[in-house]
Amino acid sequence: MDAYYTLAQLRAAAADAIRAPSLHNTQPWRFRLRDGGIEVLVDPSRRLPATDPNGWGIRIAAGAALFNLRLALAAAETPAAVRLRPYPAEPDVVARLVPDRPRRCTPIEQALYAAIPRRFSNRAPFQPDPVPADARWRLTEAARAEECWLELLIGTSAVNAFAEIARGAHHVLERNPSYRAERERWVHHDEAPDGVPATAGGPPFEPQDLLPARAFGGRERAPGRDFEPEPLVAVLGGPGNTAVDQVIAGQALQRTLLTATDAGLSVSMLSQPIEVPTAREQLRLSLGRYGTPQMVMRVGYGQPGWPTPRREIDEVLDLTVPQL
Ligand SMILES: Cc1cc2nc3c(=O)[nH]c(=O)nc-3n(C[C@H](O)[C@H](O)[C@H](O)COP(=O)(O)O)c2cc1C
Repeated sequence: MDAYYTLAQLRAAAADAIRAPSLHNTQPWRFRLRDGGIEVLVDPSRRLPATDPNGWGIRIAAGAALFNLRLALAAAETPAAVRLRPYPAEPDVVARLVPDRPRRCTPIEQALYAAIPRRFSNRAPFQPDPVPADARWRLTEAARAEECWLELLIGTSAVNAFAEIARGAHHVLERNPSYRAERERWVHHDEAPDGVPATAGGPPFEPQDLLPARAFGGRERAPGRDFEPEPLVAVLGGPGNTAVDQVIAGQALQRTLLTATDAGLSVSMLSQPIEVPTAREQLRLSLGRYGTPQMVMRVGYGQPGWPTPRREIDEVLDLTVPQL
C-alpha cells in the first residue's frame, strides 16, 4: 500500500472534483498535497457575502467536490481514508485524504464515477412522467449511504406547502439589492470559466409557476412550455448544522445527484428556503424529521443539456505547501 498520494494523483482526481456544483458556479474550493495526503479546502474569497453570509454554500460545494475526489481515487484503485476538518486551527481545510487499503472499485462507484462528466443542473421544465419507485428508492439510499436523509414530498398538499415556503423565501431574498446584484454579477453571457452561463438559466419565473426558480438570465419560455404540474421535490438533510454536518451534506448531495444522472434523471437545485433562516425552520417543522434540511432538489426527466464551464486545474491547486 502506498503511504502517500502524488501530485499526479492529485491533479487527476482534482479534474473530477471541480465538476461538482456550487452556488452560482463560484467553485469555492482549493486542493493541495501535504505530507502525502490530499487536502480539500474551502476558498473563502469565493464566498457570496449576500447569498451565503455564514459559509453554508461553500461547505456544501466543497463537500460535493470531496465526494467526486473520493470517487476518482476509488476508480483509480487508490481509495482514500477521509478525515473531515482535520485541523481545528485551520477551519478552511474541510478534509484530508490518505491512501487506504487498496481494493477493487465497486460497480456502484464505477457507475457514479462515470456520471460525473454527464451531470449538470437542468433548470428547464421536465416531462410530466412520474419518477418510478425504484429510482426514488435509489435516490433515498444514496443520501442514506452518506449519513443523510432524503425526504421525497408525496402528494399535492405536501408539494403546495413546500412551494409556499419556497416562494416566501424567494421574495425575501429578492427584496435584498445586494443579493440581486450578486446574482446578476455571476450570470455570464460570454465564455467565462465560472458563473452561470445565461444559456444554462431556466425560463424566468412566471406567476403560474409552483416553484420559484432563481433568475439566471434564461430565455422566455415558448407558449405552452410550462413546468411539470406535479414536480418531484426532494429535501436533503442531515443530523445537524455544524460545519462538518454541511460538508457531509455536500457529499450526500453529490452522491444523490450522480445517482440521479446514472438513473437517467435530471435535477435542478432550489436553495432559497435553505438560505432564509425562518423558511428553513418552517421547512424543518413541516417535514417532521430530526436534524436540518440542507438542500432542495426538483427531480424528473429533462431534455438533454450541457455541463457548465470550470476554471483550469492550476487555478485551484495550491502548490506552495512544503512537502515531505
Ligand atoms: C449550495 C448550492 C446552492 C444552489 N442553489 C441553487 C438554486 O437555488 N437555484 C439553481 O438554479 N441552482 C442552484 N445551485 C446549482 C448551481 O447554480 C450550479 O451547480 C452551478 O451553476 C454549476 O452548474 P452545474 O450544476 O450545471 O454544474 C446550487 C448549488 C449549490 C452547490
